[in-house]
Amino acid sequence: MTTHVTSADAVPTTPTLDPGTDHGYPGELSAVLIPAATLQAKIAELAAAVAADHDLDTPPLLICVLKGAVMFVTDFARAMPIPSELEFMAVSSYGSATSSSGVVRILKDLDRDITGRRVVIVEDIIDSGLTLSWLLKNLATRSPAAIDIVALLRKPEAVKVEEDVRYVGFDIPTDFVVGYGLDYNERYRDLPFVGLLGEHMYR
Ligand code: IMP
Ligand code: MG
Repeated sequence: MTTHVTSADAVPTTPTLDPGTDHGYPGELSAVLIPAATLQAKIAELAAAVAADHDLDTPPLLICVLKGAVMFVTDFARAMPIPSELEFMAVSSYGSATSSSGVVRILKDLDRDITGRRVVIVEDIIDSGLTLSWLLKNLATRSPAAIDIVALLRKPEAVKVEEDVRYVGFDIPTDFVVGYGLDYNERYRDLPFVGLLGEHMYR
C-alpha cells in the first residue's frame, strides 16, 4: 500500500514549466514530488483499506491533526465508502523552523469524549514521529476502543520514534516538502500537489 518515492521521482520546475505559477508561487518550488492525481489515487486506496477494516454500524471517528492534515482528511473522508465522523485537534511542534523540536503543545483539543470509539488519527506527515508518539499517548488515556493511524506521508530516514502506523501513503526522502496542507511559515498549504521548496526560499 505504501509507495516509495525517491529524489529521482521529483520533476524539477523550470521557468516555463512551474506548477507553482498557477497558484501564485512562481519560482519558489524546485520540484514537484507527488502530483495531485497521484495523491488522489493513493487517498482512494487508503480510504478503501481503512473502510475494509471497519463495520458499517460503527463509523470511525476521524481525528484530523490541524492544520497540515486538513486537505488530506477532507479528500480521505469523501473517498471512504463508509460513513465517518470528524473531529479536529491542533498541536504545535514546529513553530516556523524546518526541524522537529519534540515539544508538543495542544492548541485546540477535541470537542467530545472518545470513550469506546474507534478513532483513526489522520496525519499529514510523520517526520521524526515525535508528534504522533505524543498524540497516541495522550489519546490512549481517554479510553477509545481502538486507535489506528493513517498518514499520507512518512520520512523513514528521519523517524526517531517508531509507532505502529497501519496505513501510510508514501515514503518520501527527508527533504522539506510543502503543499497539500504542508506549509513553510504558513505558506504553500493551498497547493494541490506535494513539492520541494527551492533552497533560496529558506536560506
Ligand atoms: P514530527 O513530529 O517530526 O513527526 O513532525 C510533526 C509535524 O511537522 C508534521 O505533522 C508536519 O506538520 C510538520 N512537518 C514535518 N516535516 C515537514 C515537511 O517536510 N514540510 C512541512 N511540514 C513538516
Ligand atoms: Mg507546519
